[in-house]
Amino acid sequence: MDDVAIAVREARPQDAPGVAAVYISSWHDTYAGILPTQLLCAMTPSGQTARWRATIGAGGRERVLVAEQSAAGIVGMTSYGPARDAVGGHDGEIYTLYVDPNYFGCGIGRALLGSAFAELGRRGCSSCIIWAHAKNPARFFYEAMGGRQVAQRRIRMMGDVVPETAFGWSRLALAPRTAH
Ligand SMILES: CC(C)(COP(=O)(O)OP(=O)(O)OC[C@H]1O[C@@H](n2cnc3c(N)ncnc32)[C@H](O)[C@@H]1OP(=O)(O)O)[C@@H](O)C(=O)NCCC(=O)NCCS
Repeated sequence: MDDVAIAVREARPQDAPGVAAVYISSWHDTYAGILPTQLLCAMTPSGQTARWRATIGAGGRERVLVAEQSAAGIVGMTSYGPARDAVGGHDGEIYTLYVDPNYFGCGIGRALLGSAFAELGRRGCSSCIIWAHAKNPARFFYEAMGGRQVAQRRIRMMGDVVPETAFGWSRLALAPRTAH
């Protein structure tokens, strides 16, 4: 799909329902067959709206950016902040990055990641790490963005053991776009 005109901006509390909708649809699209159905079904619009309204409103360590398209509204979101684990000396972290599945491949993921890197730089970070499910196809996206696999771990989610891979950027710079 061709790139669509979008604007990336800081999230406002009233964006919470749109952020929750993108988060849930992207989770269901990506993790069906990868994560336990029980975990996917436990996610509700009201629960996720409350979670994101609280995060955005708190203005704390986790900051949220949204990608907005004039006709469709919020079509992507990311959250970022200081790294939670000191893996390989990376000081910044992308905690979440989700695009509406109807808009995959339109350049929105790249735009959100680039804006989050710029914000991390403004907040004193010089590098970044992202943890992703080891089977998540997003790993190809992170490699296309210049990330390198730097660590592996196993975490527990609702009683299941989930393998994760970390991608790291030693500088806050994305790989340039490939020619199309
Ligand atoms: C991963 C994700 C954020 C990518 O967003 P996107 O808007 O579809 O990606 P873009 O259109 O910005 O693509 C950027 C580049 O990555 C490449 N790319 C994207 N997805 C890819 C994939 N699955 N395999 C290979 N390359 C991929 C594109 O070819 C593009 O290359 P270019 O910029 O050099 O032309 C999005 O697909 C998504 O939300 N997936 C589901 C949720 C998820 O897994 N999030 C990550 C959680 S850790």
